[in-house]
Order: sequence, then structure tokens, then C-alpha cells
Amino acid sequence: MRALLARMTLDEKIGQLTMVTGSGTATGPQTAPVSLAEIRVGRAGSILNLWTPAAVREVQRIAVEESRLGIPLIVGFDVLHGHRTIFPVPLGEAASFDTALWEETAAAAAEEAASDGVSLTFAPMLDVTRDPRWGRICESPGEDAHVAARFAEAKVKGFQGSALASSRHVAATAKHLGAYGAVLAGRDYASADVSQRELEEVHLPAFASAVKAGVAAVMPSFIDIAGTPATASRPLLRGILRDRWNFQGVVISDYNAIAELITHGVAADLAEAATLALRAGVDIDMMAGAYSRGLPVALDRGLVAMADIDTAVLRVLTLKDDLGLFADPYRGLITASYSNGPRYRRLAKRAAASSMVLLKNSPAVLPLSQHGGPIAVVGPLAHAPADMLGPWAAAGRAEEGVSFLDGMRAAFPGRRILHQPAAGFDPATLVPALAREAGIVIFCAGETRNMSGEASSRGEPGLPMAQIQLAKNLLAANNPLVLVLCSGRPLILPPFLAEGAAAILAAWFPGSEAGTALGDVLSGGVEPGGRLPVSWPASIGQIPIYYSERRTGRPANSASHYSSKYLDIPAEPHFPFGHGLSYTAFRFDNLRTGRPVMAAGETLEVAVDASNIGDRNGGTIVMLFIQHQVASVARPVMELKRFQRIEAAPQEKLTVTFRLGSNDLQFPGADLEPVLENGRIDILVGQRAVESELLRAGIELTGGQNRLPAGSR
Ligand code: BGC
Repeated sequence: MRALLARMTLDEKIGQLTMVTGSGTATGPQTAPVSLAEIRVGRAGSILNLWTPAAVREVQRIAVEESRLGIPLIVGFDVLHGHRTIFPVPLGEAASFDTALWEETAAAAAEEAASDGVSLTFAPMLDVTRDPRWGRICESPGEDAHVAARFAEAKVKGFQGSALASSRHVAATAKHLGAYGAVLAGRDYASADVSQRELEEVHLPAFASAVKAGVAAVMPSFIDIAGTPATASRPLLRGILRDRWNFQGVVISDYNAIAELITHGVAADLAEAATLALRAGVDIDMMAGAYSRGLPVALDRGLVAMADIDTAVLRVLTLKDDLGLFADPYRGLITASYSNGPRYRRLAKRAAASSMVLLKNSPAVLPLSQHGGPIAVVGPLAHAPADMLGPWAAAGRAEEGVSFLDGMRAAFPGRRILHQPAAGFDPATLVPALAREAGIVIFCAGETRNMSGEASSRGEPGLPMAQIQLAKNLLAANNPLVLVLCSGRPLILPPFLAEGAAAILAAWFPGSEAGTALGDVLSGGVEPGGRLPVSWPASIGQIPIYYSERRTGRPANSASHYSSKYLDIPAEPHFPFGHGLSYTAFRFDNLRTGRPVMAAGETLEVAVDASNIGDRNGGTIVMLFIQHQVASVARPVMELKRFQRIEAAPQEKLTVTFRLGSNDLQFPGADLEPVLENGRIDILVGQRAVESELLRAGIELTGGQNRLPAGSR
């Protein structure tokens, strides 16, 4: 690669650092598609939003055969939750708590994307967030740092496989490094003013885990953290990413983010913006034209050195080499025929059912029997295959998706399915008539796909007014109502509906097999496999809300006025993190840690008995939290450290075991350096983050640091 670098002009070097757009789809403000002439003269090294074998073959041919140095292009695309076959949105997939599934869907997406000419995906998105107002919560793995870290490693493995050069895999991009999930008041692109501690404990672990798993690229977020935009942050991109984590890959800016350093007010012009980004370690400029227009000026002004540009170019060339693009610029393209095949569709169906969270089922109306009166399937999301795909649906096609209505028809051949399309009728009369005629109503409500995702923050994340009115009318028919919520975020429900609905199922945006999965779940063929990866607020005023809140001196206590609560709303979420029902029930007993003392460096084995006490096969997620009793800094009330999906037959009893290392018990100390402190730590095990429901066992940690060493002052 150095020999190639030595032959490059300044223009060609900057070209390698420049990402331009194809014409496939628009994901940012500048949409003018690349002119092929730019590629021909070597002024573009990568392209985004372009796919299909024919389109990619053509641009690649021009790059390789007609440009002076014949350097192939990287083709980037936002393949977040499927390429052509669409899986549930990441928040939904996170709800499955199934690391093997996370990896499998990423591998399938990579295979489809690679066969369509894509060589790099801008995924996984790893922004931990506790704010459902933020539209991008839909793309994220939820509120918990440990879940996000496990998600990161599974997704990187799935996308990249064991060798980047394999034509069935793509390079992954961990995004958006920083604390994008903490934007002010959940408003997209706003500033995040988080403490260094919150950054270390909450926002960075998933990225550390992605880097450890070998992620090829990292994208800083658009936003500033306490005044320093991530795109220009040396402490973040050099200090933490490259120096602490030893990241050797490519840093790709977000869309136009380098030019936006001017709007942030930290750069006066493109030359300064380019300087800040390059000095921080951003290698590729996505869609700002800041490197192409700014770097030559920055060089003239003496703001950057050619050596800095060379370092970035070498990283880009190395990634192209690792991807096998020099050996075969048309990698993957020949295998296009397997896209959207039955194997992927089966996986999409399984993933969708595993992501659906049964929030309520009382009285137990679900699962529905194959026999009986008509079922009404109504609501604006009942027959909306495009909405089922959710935002960032890559090359997914609505016409290949299965709507809830179609899925229900297929799943209940013996029952009449009643439906009224949303358009062209008066919901105040017709729908209630339908609801009365049917024995049960499936009300498919929630968000359309454009109500979640980038630039789709909502100040009131609930149901639209028209749906609330419709819900009232449906409930007035006095038949059981099953609320199927389609959304990219928890939706705050009006109490009349939360109480009036017999069952509530959070289906998220389930993807191409939305309807088949719903049919499976409502008929009981498959369990609703999801558990909440985010706390579900009862009221907007609770946001941000999350289970791992830090301990306070005055914890919420209904008997004490001076305690941490509200006068007018509850302090607890409507549904807690980890909540989700199955069609059976599990009981946990006999939590044991093997020994009462654990020394630094040792591994602790934790075991618990889990019994299926219902009369159906079923599964659940077993969660293990830790709780420091006393530490030098106030710790979260509970921290998730392990989770495991289990399945059991009726009356079957399993032993579930977890291993914890002493690393799992470390935390950033008062000086923010990792510390392992002696003292009592409780292990809590159960199914959701409600302290009073969890089994508890304590251990004493020794061999670490003392909090208050004798003689110290
Ligand atoms: C988003 C990124 C995305 C990029 C390219 C931006 O607007 O923030 O997540 O990867 O566009 O589509």
C-alpha cells in the first residue's frame, strides 16, 4: 500500500478520503448524485447509497479501469436490520436478548448486501439511550450498556464474519461514537452534555466491545459532547478510540458532519473544519466536500501536514485491501440470486416473533383459538406492509412484505377475519360495528415508519389523536381488544386504553415477515419472545427513565414526602426493563454463588433453578444484576451483567448457570480509572429489573482495593 501511496498526487490522496453519494436513496441534506467523471479522475474513494449489481459494477469498472491508479471504491450503505429481507428494527431485535440471533440476522443481511455490491455497512448503531422522544432510539439496542456491548459484538461478528475478504461479508461501522443517545431533551442533533463518568459507564462500553470484536470502521456522531463536536474530538477519537482501545481501522465522518463544524461554531471555514477532523483522526469525509475543498487550503496554511493525510489514506487503502477489493473489485456480485430467499424469510419470521413483547395479557385472551367467531383486524397499521419495514429499510421492498392482516388470514384459516381499510370509511360507525360483530378485536395501532428514525424526534411519543378516538370507539363495542403496537419506541399509552385493552403486544417495526410472525404469536404456535430492552414510561414527565439509575440519598418512598418521586405521576415506569410475558410462567429458586467470598482474579459461578410452572412449552430471559452495597462512588441501583434465554417444557426444571469474572465487578473510581473494590456485592437474578422480585445472594470481594485504607487521609 505504501508503494501505491507514493504514486499518488494530492488530489488522488484526498479522493481516497472522500465519500460521495450514489443515486439510490437520500439520507442527508445533500443529495446530488456523484458524477462519474469524479470517479474517473480519482476524486472519490468511496460511495454511499448505491446498490444493485449493475449499478455497482459500473461505478467500480470506471474506478478500476478508467481512473489513473485503478483503485476500487468502497460501497457503503445503511444496512441496519436487513438488506432486502428486512428483520425487526434494532430496538425490536434487542428485545429478543438472543445474541445468536443478532449475529445470524447480521450475517444474512451482510450476505444479501454483499451480493448487491455493498462492501461496508454503516451499522451497528450502538447509541445507548434512555429517551423515547429521540427518534433514533428505534435504531439502538436500548437503554442498557451491557446489552449494547453484547449486541455490538454479535453484530460485528455477523456482518464481518471471520475474514473481511469473504465475498459474503461486509465491513461494519460502529456508530455514532459519542453520546448521541443523550441529546438534549431527545431532540435530534442537539448537544449532549454528559459527564465523563456517564460517558465511560453508559455510552462507551458498546464501542469498546465493537473494537474488541474487530470492527473495521467507526463513525463519530454529529453532535457535540459538552462543547466538543465528536467529529473534531481528539480526546474521543485519538485518546480513547485509537490510544486506549488500539483501534487500527477507518474513522468515517457522519453525513456532512465535517462541514457542520462550521455551524457548530468551532470552525471558521472548510479548511479549519477539515483540519479539526483530520487532526482528530477522521479518515473519510462523508458528503461534506470538506476534505476536497478544505485540505489543500489547510496544507497551504500549514494547519495540517502531508503525513497526516498519508496516514488516513493508508488506513483507507488497507481497508480496501482487507476487503479483497484489489483482488476482486466485483466481490460478491455474482451470487445475487440468493437474495430474499426462503432461508432468510424463515429467519425474518423467527426474528420478528422473538422481538415481540407481550406487555399485558389479562384476562388471558391470548393465544387465540383456531375455532370460534370472527376476528376483526383493524387500525391504520393492519394492512401496511411498507410501515412494517420501519426506517432504514435498505433495499427492502414493501410488496415483498406480509402485512398483519395477511398474516392473520393465513394463521387462522378456520376463522373469519373482518377488516375495513383505514381510508374511505367513518371509523366512528363502521369500525365499532365490525368490532361488535367480531368476538375479538385486533387493533393495529402505533407509528408509521416515518414517525421514528433519524430527524423524527417526538415531544409526545404516544398514539396519534385519531387512533385514540378509534380506540375509544372500539372499546365501546365491549369485546376483548388486543392492542398490537407497531413503533420504533415505547409509546405512552392513555390509561383508558392501557386498562381497557385485554392484551398489549409491542411488535416494534417487525420487518418483511411482520404478519406471519404476528399470526404465529397470536395463534400460540410461537411464543412472543421479546423482553423490554428499555423502560416503558407511564408519562412523558418521567423521561429520561431507566432501571440503572444511580442510588440517591432519598430513594422514592410513598410514606416519605422528602423522597425522590413526583407529586402527580408515578416514579415507576409503566413496564420495567426486562418486562415481557410468555404463555407459560417461570419460577426461580435456590440462587447460589458456590462460595461467599470471591478474590480478585477469580471467577464466580452463579446458579439458579428455573421451573416452567405453566402447562405449555415456553421460554424466558434470565437476567443477572449486580448491586454494590458500599463503594467509593454511588453506584447504579442495579447493573445488568449477564442474560440468558432458556426454554423448558411444562413442569421442567433447569439449572441456569452464569460465570462472572472480577472484571465484571469493576467500575470507574473517583478518578475515573477502573477500580475493583473490596466489600459486599449482591447478585440479583430474575426476569426483569424490579428489585423486589429478584432473588438475592451476597458475596464478599477481597484482594481488591480498600475504599478507606487505614492511615489514608
Ligand atoms: C446518519 C448515519 C448514516 C448516514 C448515511 C446520517 O444522516 O446519521 O447514521 O449512516 O446518514 O446514510
